[in-house]
Amino acid sequence: MPDYDTLAKTIASLTEGEDDAVALMATVTCEVHHFDVRFDWTGFYRVTEPDLLKIGPYQGRHGCLQIPFSRGVCGTAARTGKVQLIPNVEAFEGHIACATSTRSELVLPVFNGVGLLIAVFDIDSDQLDAFTVEDATQMASILKVVFKAVNI
Ligand code: SME
Repeated sequence: MPDYDTLAKTIASLTEGEDDAVALMATVTCEVHHFDVRFDWTGFYRVTEPDLLKIGPYQGRHGCLQIPFSRGVCGTAARTGKVQLIPNVEAFEGHIACATSTRSELVLPVFNGVGLLIAVFDIDSDQLDAFTVEDATQMASILKVVFKAVNI
């Protein structure tokens, strides 16, 4: 099992006292991306205007710059406010193929300290069925701690 305890502690110590959303996103992206070889693209899409996501800090090959709430796995996470664990992207209607190598995805909504949706956190894998419910639960808990400091 991946060592989520260490990941959470590392991220907490790196981000303590920081409340800038982009600084936090960049740090979380870096730590998570290098945490597990299953993760081939890791990054944030930010809510920059109603019903629109724009690319934020990421690691991996280039991502699409804009995603409307109406489209893709990221848009669905933003629209519903619910975690999207997609074992096979080809079976997901409306999946956006920024990278044709992506086979599975985990996308989590990101809320600030007052419960406002500020972004989604997207982890993509070139492996089919790469993500577990444990991944989703642990990532959600890390995001909650980190982004509660943000006031935008
Ligand atoms: N796969 C995502 C789009 C973002 S990228 O793959 C980096 C989606 O369908 O929402």
